[in-house]
Amino acid sequence: MKCLEIEQVKKLTGTVRISGAKNAAVALIPAAILADTGDVTICNVPDITDTDNLCDILKHLNVKTKRASESVLINAQEMKNVEISEEFSVKMRASYYFMGALLAKYKKAVMYFPGGCAIGKRPINLHLKGFEALGAKVTNDGNKYTVEADELKGNNIYLDIASVGATINIMLAAVKAKGTTIIDNAAKEPEIVNVAVFLNSMGARITGAGTSTIRIEGVESLHGAFHEVIPDRIEAGTFLIAGALAGENLKIDNIIPEHLESLLSKLDEVGVPLEIGDDYVVVSKGENYHRTNIITRVYPGFPTDLQQPFTVLLTQAEGKSTVEETIWENRFMHAPYLEKLGANVEVKDKKLIVVGKTPLVGTTVKATDLRAGAAMVVAALIAEGKTKIEDAEHILRGYEGIVEKLTNVGAKIELKEI
Ligand code: EPU
Repeated sequence: MKCLEIEQVKKLTGTVRISGAKNAAVALIPAAILADTGDVTICNVPDITDTDNLCDILKHLNVKTKRASESVLINAQEMKNVEISEEFSVKMRASYYFMGALLAKYKKAVMYFPGGCAIGKRPINLHLKGFEALGAKVTNDGNKYTVEADELKGNNIYLDIASVGATINIMLAAVKAKGTTIIDNAAKEPEIVNVAVFLNSMGARITGAGTSTIRIEGVESLHGAFHEVIPDRIEAGTFLIAGALAGENLKIDNIIPEHLESLLSKLDEVGVPLEIGDDYVVVSKGENYHRTNIITRVYPGFPTDLQQPFTVLLTQAEGKSTVEETIWENRFMHAPYLEKLGANVEVKDKKLIVVGKTPLVGTTVKATDLRAGAAMVVAALIAEGKTKIEDAEHILRGYEGIVEKLTNVGAKIELKEI
């Protein structure tokens, strides 16, 4: 088991360069197999366990994959469409993007139900409904899914929930379908736009990504392309929150501030001093923080992936704040560990109530999932003494070079194998 040991920091100062977005990269890598000719180069790919695991799946499919610094070069010309084993499928959520991509390329995909953080029920019914609407037949034997079609034909697909994964997966499946596909109530996250831009640079014809109606005109074939992953707004948000708690002119660099508007406006409301530039934000710890309420919503609402780290900031605001989680049913698993650190928190009627301000004191806690782990890192930076975060593997799945990045701005943090 991996464990992060973090000491209370006096101040975080300097520059943190934000990496490419995990949730875009994990869709772009499977999407790259759609190139019928030429190489695909994706740059600004974060070096995290999730992208490593997807590259392992590419190799399993006999796709040439070469990682060089921040880029991944992918050539799918000698690819073989073989079953993706359960071992590969469960390593992360995003393995399911191979379903849409393989279906588009070979009209057949065989793989297992995906894994990912245990933050509630995570069905894939909307993905499958989309594939079926395009003409595919879906069968399952336990966790093993076979999705196949004689021919894929464009259709109108309404998503009951604006799901990020279903929107991307249907886009992947539809790029080479005959005719036009329209996805209604599509998710609007920036990662979806990033994937659509990539597919278009490979020759796809997608319009409307970033709005709730996406239109895909099927094309015969796709070709290689060069593409850059957008900055990770969730990594950036996590460092911004850390800066709000312990920063002194901490520069969060290489970001798109527009992608973080809901967080920046909440930080401002709480009283966090911010200087917003074109591609950076400078954050410092403020004097007195005000309470607030947050409700997680689909983009451009407050991101569920920042809810847990933001809770730590609320422990340092005067008065009673509430956090309402509307996307996932089980995303308050950080609460008992925050309590263990000294916070006054309570889960009531699907809301987390935080009463501040309370000092935090280092102890041993767990990263129950990726963002709960990020919350523990942020809390550990201000907790008196030393905090040990067990099950740190979860954190490494989504934060590139977190130890180095925090060390560079003044933190004392060590990754240990225990
Ligand atoms: N849902 C269904 N049926 C489906 C798909 C989704 O009911 O077929 C429900 C889910 O159960 C959930 C809601 O719809 O209640 C939203 O799920 P969505 O599909 O949007 O989430 P996802 O694609 O599985 C991605 C990110 C998550 C992030 C969510 C919401 C990736 C790999 N994961 O998940 O990121 O929380 O969108 O923004 O892109 C993380 O990075 O820590 C993380 C969990």
